[in-house]
Amino acid sequence: MTHDDIAAQAAADFRSQFGRAADGVWSAPGRVNLIGEHTDYNEGFVLPFAIDRRTWAAVGLRDDNTARVTSTFSDDEVEIGLSTVGPEQLEGWSAYPLGIAWALGQNGVELAEQHGFDAHIASDVPVGAGLSSSAAIECAVAIALDERWQLGIDRPTLARVGQLAENEAVGAPTGIMDQSASLLGRRDSAVFLDCRSLRSEIVDLGFAAAGLAIVIIDTKVSHSHATGGYAARRASCEAGAAALGVESLRDVGVADLDRAREIMDDETFRRVRHVVTENARVLATVRTLRESGPLAIGEILDASHVSMRDDFEISVAELDLAVVAAREAGAIGARMTGGGFGGAAIALTPLALIDEVTARVGEAFAQAGYTAPEIFTVTPSDGAKREL
Ligand code: GLA
Repeated sequence: MTHDDIAAQAAADFRSQFGRAADGVWSAPGRVNLIGEHTDYNEGFVLPFAIDRRTWAAVGLRDDNTARVTSTFSDDEVEIGLSTVGPEQLEGWSAYPLGIAWALGQNGVELAEQHGFDAHIASDVPVGAGLSSSAAIECAVAIALDERWQLGIDRPTLARVGQLAENEAVGAPTGIMDQSASLLGRRDSAVFLDCRSLRSEIVDLGFAAAGLAIVIIDTKVSHSHATGGYAARRASCEAGAAALGVESLRDVGVADLDRAREIMDDETFRRVRHVVTENARVLATVRTLRESGPLAIGEILDASHVSMRDDFEISVAELDLAVVAAREAGAIGARMTGGGFGGAAIALTPLALIDEVTARVGEAFAQAGYTAPEIFTVTPSDGAKREL
């Protein structure tokens, strides 16, 4: 189905489920992070882009205090009373859309009578691939409610609302990157975001003009940021910052690493070194894209993967194999993307070599006895918008 067809179908499904027309259909994309991993919650730099995989929310206001949500990925209809709902009552997929309503309430929106709504969600962002299917739901619902409730909230603030929903309603202690990419993304471009000031700039990627594409290798190794490793990495970063006497690792530069090595244990030091060097790599990527174009960023992507593999230790064998096989088949740079512990790798690949990369990675996985990966390309696309 084309994206226009999915939007129209979402409106039709809303009508058949709720017995009336939706007020409109809004959509928001998933994202790929080009570089800048685990830097967002350290108030550092990230460079994600919105992708051509989206989530659609058909939304209609009600004249009572009830919110009902349905979706194409579950048979459940979930219904809540808006003024009484707390994050602890939300669970499963409905925590994403309903968590946004709750988080808007935390942001000062009066969720009294007449703020009820019905919403139907459809999506073609793969779930569990590390492409932020969750942020896509949150951002589609956030811009829909912002418009229909006539809130006029700016997009950086809406990103914060999405992050609050993710942190409290879903329970994943994630940063601000995914929602920012989904809300601020622009066709053919990446979002260069300073996660301290929340100032952002659009950076031209020029992949197509340079004859390049981003190949996604979804390893099918599932991950969850609501448990385990993600929170542990975050805690190590906080411990490293505390040992150095700074508010966050944003305040630590490459020149401070010698001192850092002396005052903390080796593991914490390596976590710190990843974040500090990754911030420098984001800045180097932006500079290189502007001065020389995307053909020149391959080595920086490779170095980022090595740092995540060896220092931050968030890669898995499948991701490492995907990166090596893609590079051997001619990708100019490759790295795992997103939070890690599974999910996807990206390979910046000459258009003429996409088939070769796809074949070689598939063969390498088969030889290693791993589950077959899903391999496809994505295009840097526009952020959240109204569709119908
Ligand atoms: C996940 C989180 C983001 C970010 C990345 C790692 O995608 O949702 O906030 O921390 O991991 O860069």
